Amino acid sequence: MALADKILRLKREKRAVVLAHNYQRPEVQDIADYVGDSIELSRKAMEEKDAEIIVFAAVDFMAESAAILNPDKKVLLPSAGARCPMAQMLTVDEIKRWRTHYPLLPLVLYVNTLASAKAYCDVCCTSANAVEVVNALDAETVLFGPDHNLAEYVQEKTGKKVIPIPERGFCPTHLLFQPEDVQALKAQYPDAVVMVHPECAAEMRKIADFIGSTSQMCKYAKENAAKTFIVATEEGLLHRLKKENPEKRFLLAYEGAVCPNMKLNTLERIYTALKEERHIVTVPEPIASKARKALEKMFELKIEKRLKRDNHCFEEFHTSF
Ligand code: 13P
Ligand code: SF4
Repeated sequence: MALADKILRLKREKRAVVLAHNYQRPEVQDIADYVGDSIELSRKAMEEKDAEIIVFAAVDFMAESAAILNPDKKVLLPSAGARCPMAQMLTVDEIKRWRTHYPLLPLVLYVNTLASAKAYCDVCCTSANAVEVVNALDAETVLFGPDHNLAEYVQEKTGKKVIPIPERGFCPTHLLFQPEDVQALKAQYPDAVVMVHPECAAEMRKIADFIGSTSQMCKYAKENAAKTFIVATEEGLLHRLKKENPEKRFLLAYEGAVCPNMKLNTLERIYTALKEERHIVTVPEPIASKARKALEKMFELKIEKRLKRDNHCFEEFHTSF
């Protein structure tokens, strides 16, 4: 029996669902129950009622968020080594240092952070809603981490002062995109539309026709009449883009744009993790409950247009875990 079929059978037997990020390998996306960007996957994990096990085919911080948002489920990360380097760039010590300098500023953390860091922030955001989150805050200056490029983009869009912490947090994969590669493709396909992830550098954002999260790119490509798209994000997204729009052409802005961490989740590892129920992601209390508040606050934006600053994080800031 093919490995994919074995996983599908195991999923039924164990009442498991597979949630896969848009950067996963094509064969992993194809066996997943749901494929999406980080906000969609967090929401799915939070709302999952029937399954007993969530296999989270992505990287550490996304699986951690799933475990935090749905503590009754067993969350498995197929490869224990699938760690987002950007998420490791902001430590609790670094946060404490910045908070000492700016004790009154709200701290907004990109979900690409570890739970221990999230526990110290006021609200989380993803690339899909970072602008909306910062706009909703009752503050003209905010601390924002760990992605320097996303912080800069949010500052441009909101007109607020966004202080990046650490000063130069970045995604090694998105840093690979260069405008000259896009220009070379544009020379070949002059009508092509350029879609850029906000983790890319400012020079890339400047030449973009559309800036958004991975799933926002999928929506944009579906709704846009253009026939050719140049895509500046991790190469895994092209599988979904092509599958959903077989009549359109998608060109990766740089062929080497691979996130090796995302790619650690192979079908073999998914099968073994599910069979042996291993690599269970757990987040200890009280880190989990504090991080949950910051994640839930991000979702509250859907019902509550203005986000009032909540003092719980400030009050608990000096609590040691
Ligand atoms: P999205 O939320 O846009 O899918 O991004 C997640 C990510 O890790 C980008 O590198
Ligand atoms: Fe992290 Fe970049 Fe990989 Fe996204 S693409 S998971 S930000 S290293």
